[in-house]
Amino acid sequence: MNFKKTILCIGAGYVGGPTMAMIAYKCPQYKVTVVDINPERIAQWNSDDLPIYEPDLGEIVKTARGRNLFFNTDIEKGIKESEIIFVSVNTPTKTYGTGAGMAADLQYWEKTARQIRDCADSHKIVVEKSTLPVKTALAMERILTSMNNGIRFDVLSNPEFLAEGTAIKDLEDPGRVLIGSRETPDCLKARDALVEIYANWVPKERIITSNIWSSELSKLVSNAFLAQRISSINSISALCEKTDANIIEVSRAVGMDSRVGNKFLNTSVGFGGSCFKKDILNLVYICRSQGLDEVADYWEGVVKINDYQKERFILNMLSAMFNTLAGKRICLFGFAFKANTGDTRESPAISIAGRLAEEKADLIITDPQALKNAMIALSDVNGEIDYVKDPYDAAAGCDAIAVMTEWDIYAGLDFEKIYKSMTKPAFVFDGRNILDHEKLFEIGFNVYPIGKPALTHF
Ligand code: UDX
Ligand code: UDX
Repeated sequence: MNFKKTILCIGAGYVGGPTMAMIAYKCPQYKVTVVDINPERIAQWNSDDLPIYEPDLGEIVKTARGRNLFFNTDIEKGIKESEIIFVSVNTPTKTYGTGAGMAADLQYWEKTARQIRDCADSHKIVVEKSTLPVKTALAMERILTSMNNGIRFDVLSNPEFLAEGTAIKDLEDPGRVLIGSRETPDCLKARDALVEIYANWVPKERIITSNIWSSELSKLVSNAFLAQRISSINSISALCEKTDANIIEVSRAVGMDSRVGNKFLNTSVGFGGSCFKKDILNLVYICRSQGLDEVADYWEGVVKINDYQKERFILNMLSAMFNTLAGKRICLFGFAFKANTGDTRESPAISIAGRLAEEKADLIITDPQALKNAMIALSDVNGEIDYVKDPYDAAAGCDAIAVMTEWDIYAGLDFEKIYKSMTKPAFVFDGRNILDHEKLFEIGFNVYPIGKPALTHF
């Protein structure tokens, strides 16, 4: 079959896989190939057991796979055959050398740029999908053109704003698609070509264009702003606990001001996920490198409050349970960094579990989707850890339940039954404020929400 365009994506991860699946699903006239250096991951994309869990992803992949969506490991061939190449390899926080713990590790990204340069034998539009420090496109251009072989590369920035758990919804009906480019005639033409792809299903007014540096920076700033809202409300939750104010009431009152808005004001045990911390630290690092220490300190505060919130949760557990957790059985309800995903990257549950193990508590972990990842995330943690799929079985015989993830199923559980099966006194620490605290208290639990007065029988 003759396709109208050939599109490649390098990196079959959380971003590359679903994004390309959506393009292929919406645009049967384009051939979309996703390549990855990891053959197991590619094999999973070609199987019924996809490497990531996202509602509705399976259906979309099934419809397009083999028709105009292909997964393989032949990166070289993919580069040669494609007109448009998305780069969606991971850009984690650097763990070594200068900028360790802060800057983005660009080694995979740079290796990919060189690979594109070495394999390309015709004009390519190269699209940065990965989140990158502002000005990375300049380095990308320099690498791509360093062979001086007359091949033209137009570099665009097209950051992805999808959130996990709602990836398909976000891709199908995005609030905005951002495409940045340089303002030369060639780059503007390339930008139009990318706009044309999205225009197959996204209303034109939601496809916004900008200069390339604004686009790169907007991704980091979007995530920083979202995380800042959570740290803001979490910081106030600490004050609520000291003053008998109720964070849910405060957040409702504040959020009803339309200038503030009511989204992303749910207090929690802390934010997690692969992006927020990484992107803020990256922003902080860039600000410091530009000599903007005050700006860097401001944004670093968002991460510090997040760490503080997790530590506060542990200290609250410790003091509520008579200052010792040693030998106590504590059941974590949820391990994913948020509901509707099996992803545990940077999940607050990881540090909470680590701290509980340090206190010599025995841990029982339950989660509808994330148990496999939880086991990997805690493989270095010493102590007794059990992984139990059924929440009733998990809670039985425990001293305390700590809610880590806001899975809907937890609010609907039969807590009378759970209470009967637990050691007394029984405690609930609701790290997501999703349970009916008064009802739990009436059943007999000692209840510790976040940012609300505790309900205790002592
Ligand atoms: C994405 C973005 O790329 C990242 O910049 C953003 O901040 C978060 O989302 P994600 O899709 O979540 O990353 O990463 P991951 O799931 O780790 O997938 C990256 C894929 O790239 C992996 O499958 C990895 O095998 C692949 N890869 C990595 C390559 O194919 N080539 C490489 O050289 C390196
Ligand atoms: C985020 C951004 O939302 C998305 O636009 C970007 O592309 C990638 O990073 P994601 O990490 O998938 O997406 O999840 P998100 O829904 O933003 O939640 C991040 C964390 O914040 C989760 O741990 C979540 O539980 C927490 N959160 C969110 C809160 O604690 N309170 C809230 O009110 C909202």
